[in-house]
Amino acid sequence: MHQINSVVVLLVSCSFLLANGQLNYYYYYSSCPNLPMIVQYGVWAAMKNDTRIAASLLRLHFHDCFVNGCDASILLDDTKTFKGEQNAGPNSNSVRGFEVIDNIKADVERACPLTVSCVDILTLAAREAVVLSGGPSWLVALGRRDGLTANLKAANTNLPTPFEPLANITAKFAAVGLDLKDVVVLSGAHTIGLAQCFTFKHRLYNFKGTGQPDPNLDSSLASNLKASCPNVDKSNTNLNSLDVVTTYKFDNAYYKNLVNNAGLLESDQTLMSDPQTASMVKSYSMDPYLFNMDFAASMVKLGNIGVITGQDGEIRKKCGKVNR
Ligand code: HEM
Ligand SMILES: *[C@@H]1O[C@H](CO)[C@@H](O)[C@H](O)[C@H]1NC(C)=O
Ligand SMILES: *[C@@H]1O[C@H](CO)[C@@H](O)[C@H](O)[C@H]1NC(C)=O
Repeated sequence: MHQINSVVVLLVSCSFLLANGQLNYYYYYSSCPNLPMIVQYGVWAAMKNDTRIAASLLRLHFHDCFVNGCDASILLDDTKTFKGEQNAGPNSNSVRGFEVIDNIKADVERACPLTVSCVDILTLAAREAVVLSGGPSWLVALGRRDGLTANLKAANTNLPTPFEPLANITAKFAAVGLDLKDVVVLSGAHTIGLAQCFTFKHRLYNFKGTGQPDPNLDSSLASNLKASCPNVDKSNTNLNSLDVVTTYKFDNAYYKNLVNNAGLLESDQTLMSDPQTASMVKSYSMDPYLFNMDFAASMVKLGNIGVITGQDGEIRKKCGKVNR
């Protein structure tokens, strides 16, 4: 009887530990107990040096997970014989934060050699970036393994662009198991960070070929943006706040901006002009707690896309290249 009870207890605790397939919350509990602290310190130190880096790390995680699943494929550098994802259209001269992950990985290797995957480090770093920016926290189940390859073509086709309609963006999310609500919620990541002028310039000068500005763009924001993004090619890479009110604070101002026609990207403002999503935008603009809760839940979904576990993939020594 006593034995049967222990078996039951064991089974119950196992199913509690298993979050998604083989991922679990205590994966490195004994093999790398300081992992959470090391990642937290690394992100904190990077943010002290560069306020924008939190946003960049969050986006790096998103761009990893949308291509071949969360497998750190985006971290693989190009070589003479290998074309990775870093030069794909949505990534090139745009995603950043590689050195931060490399530095954290080096610290983790010193503490627990060949134990922790780069993809788990990136997943934890994205969470810390949100937390240290004032956003919500969530539990990250661990045990993802690093991929052995990358997919340049998928990076060019699977990642959403700010130039496509909501239906196309939704389709790209659906392809990785995310729904319309996830699109609205995860777009809230644009509450932190910056975007280059070319990603929204058409809204200032020639919206949908009309030769006119986007009617859903607040006129005072538009005039500030025109000053930063004059209608010449050389302004294309100038940077502007995705959330002009609290650029580096993770809050619900992004949604308030959308309600006020002050979203930066066309793909942002569309969430307010499309009747399918406007009510969600309004809810999040009024309820920061609801946004935090839903954002945490959607981030867990994002971090579990197509993960490699068990004996598949590997634990990379260096995040920029496969071991052999
Ligand atoms: C819904 C479709 C999305 C589109 C079309 C989109 C598009 C963009 C674009 C064009 C930029 C500016 C890039 C540049 O100028 O170099 C950007 C930045 C950013 N995106 Fe998104 N994004 C989307 C969803 C997401 C999601 C799901 C996340 C994370 C959960 C995210 C996080 C970020 C962050 C944090 C930045 C600022 C990065 C920095 O300052 O380094 N985005 N996004
Ligand atoms: C500090 O941030 C800048 C800008 O991102 C970066 O170029 C530099 O390498 C960072 N320095 C350290 C020590 O992380
Ligand atoms: C949206 O998707 C449709 C169907 O896949 C495609 O034909 C169209 O070119 C896409 N639009 C944009 C702006 O990417």
